[in-house]
Amino acid sequence: MSDPMRPRASLRTAVVRDVLREALDRRLKAVTAAEGTAGGAGRVLDVLDTGGGTGNFAVPVARLGHRVTVVDPSPNALFALERRAGEEGVADRVRGVQGDARGLFDVVERGGFDAVLCHGVLEYVDDPAEGVRNAVAALRPSGTLSVLAAGLGGAVLARALAGHFAEARQALGDPHGRWGEGDPVPRRFSPEQLTELVTGEGLTVEAVHGVRVFADLVPGALVDGEPGAVEALLRLEAAAAEVPAFRAVATQLHVLAERESG
Ligand SMILES: C[S@@+](CC[C@H](N)C(=O)[O-])C[C@H]1O[C@@H](n2cnc3c(N)ncnc32)[C@H](O)[C@@H]1O
Repeated sequence: MSDPMRPRASLRTAVVRDVLREALDRRLKAVTAAEGTAGGAGRVLDVLDTGGGTGNFAVPVARLGHRVTVVDPSPNALFALERRAGEEGVADRVRGVQGDARGLFDVVERGGFDAVLCHGVLEYVDDPAEGVRNAVAALRPSGTLSVLAAGLGGAVLARALAGHFAEARQALGDPHGRWGEGDPVPRRFSPEQLTELVTGEGLTVEAVHGVRVFADLVPGALVDGEPGAVEALLRLEAAAAEVPAFRAVATQLHVLAERESG
């Protein structure tokens, strides 16, 4: 699911896309085995992308063959999503719906999805616990939840390495992990906080990954134009993603979890 046409952009999404692709493969196998349609028989997954925006994840997931419903409050994002899905030949598998995390079940079916993505949204909603609760309630039994959110440690490190030491310290002590008035991100999470939000809704956490551990800290000149540098950095990001020490200083955190089957 990496994008060979946009190597720098792929640095931002590669770890999550790879983890997601494997998780969706496993879910599809489990679903077809449970339904007695092993081998596929045309079964694809119903995936909900809440706060899916312009389709950074929804479109690649649709390209895997799955049906994706994107719920997002922004008409502009949904317009861009529709155009992108058309350009990538998956318009028939991507449905954009205007709505938000709080009123999710005004626009989609409760318990209607094999997998739910909640990427880059919990930072912005008024009540992250409610956001996770609704995402979980959209899942079918045994469904897969994928949560991606801004990491506290990554922001502290980035501010400090940019010479903004007071802001780094402010973020470290702030209840929402913000470095000051000018901080565009309303809330950040430690790995423990994000994991607890998910386990608090009764899900079993399968993996926690650190995303963009190095990519945002390395000067572009050391990557762009250096033969093989992007690929080597991608491999480094993948290797560090599950190491707790690096996870703690990642720009983003990814939690993959499963709903109980009952
Ligand atoms: C940082 S973007 C992430 C987009 C996409 N999920 C991704 O990972 O590329 C945040 C998205 O959340 C949407 N959003 C903001 N508030 C929301 C809310 N209360 N419920 C659902 N989505 C929301 C925005 O419109 C935007 O598309």
